[in-house]
Amino acid sequence: MLIAQISDLHLSTPESRNETVYRTAEYLAAAVAHLNALTPRPDVVLATGDLVERGDTAEYARLREHLEPLRMPIYLIPGNHDDRVTLAKAFDGHGYMPRDGGFIQYTVEDWSVRLVALDTVIPAESGGELCAERLAWLDARLAVAPERPTLVFMHHPPFVTGMRKMDEMGLAGADDLAAVIRRHPQVERIACGHLHRSIVRRFAGTVACTGPATAHQLALDLGPEPRLATVMEPPACLLHLWMGGDGLVSHVSVIGDRHVPFTVFDGREWLRDAPAPPGFHPPTPLHRGNP
Ligand SMILES: [Fe+2]
Ligand SMILES: [Fe+2]
Repeated sequence: MLIAQISDLHLSTPESRNETVYRTAEYLAAAVAHLNALTPRPDVVLATGDLVERGDTAEYARLREHLEPLRMPIYLIPGNHDDRVTLAKAFDGHGYMPRDGGFIQYTVEDWSVRLVALDTVIPAESGGELCAERLAWLDARLAVAPERPTLVFMHHPPFVTGMRKMDEMGLAGADDLAAVIRRHPQVERIACGHLHRSIVRRFAGTVACTGPATAHQLALDLGPEPRLATVMEPPACLLHLWMGGDGLVSHVSVIGDRHVPFTVFDGREWLRDAPAPPGFHPPTPLHRGNP
C-alpha cells in the first residue's frame, strides 16, 4: 500500500495574495499532476489541513475543481485556516464527511494500513487542540482493531519543533494524546501538516512527522526569536510505503520539473542524461516558473 500525503495547500481565490504571491493554485495543479504521474501510483491521498486560506465557500468550490483530476481517492481534514462546517458542506459527496457539523474525524478501512483522521481545529485560532471528546473517539476507534497497522493523520503536530513561532501555535492535549497512543502500539505513524516542512520525532512509542506544503514552505529557523518567513523551497509530498513485515517507510517526494534524473544506474552502469527506467519516481511534467 502506498499512501501519499499533501499538506497546507492554502488555496484561495484568483485575486488573493495567496494566488498572486504564492501561486497556490498553480502549485496545487502541479501537485495533482505529480501524484497522478507517480509509479507506482499511490492507493490513496491524504490532505492534512490548511486546504484553503480563509475557509469560505468560494475557496472550497475552487478546491473541488482542483482536486477533480486526481485519479485516486483523497481524504481531507481541516487545519487552522479551514472551516469545518463549510468544508464538510462543500465536500458532502465525500461519504466520510460528518453531516452534523461536528469534528471531521473518521476511519478508512479499505487498505492494509488503517487510516484514522483526527480534527485538531479550534475555530478562529491558529493553534490546535485534542479535547477529551476527540481523544475518547480515537481511543475507542483504535481499540477495535489492535492488530491492524494504523496511520493517524491530523493537522497540528503533537510536538514542539524548535521553530518558535510555530510552536506558539502548537497542539493542546498532546500529553493526553500520547497516553492514548501508548495504549495502541499498532499506530505506525502520526502524519501531520501545519509546519510547511518535513520534520520527524519519536512520540509515545510511535513516529510522528510533518509533511512539506504543496506551495510555500516555512524557512527553517531554530533561533530563539519567534520569527516566521515563507520561502519558495521546492514543494513536495510525503509517500508512506507499507512494506508489510518491513514496516511503514516515509519518503519525501519533491514536486517539480527541475528535479529530473541526471545520471541513471540501469542495473549495470551509470548513464548520463538517460531517461529514467519505468518504475522510477518520474520527472513530472509541470508548471512553468517553478522556483
Ligand atoms: Fe499552513
Ligand atoms: Fe496550519
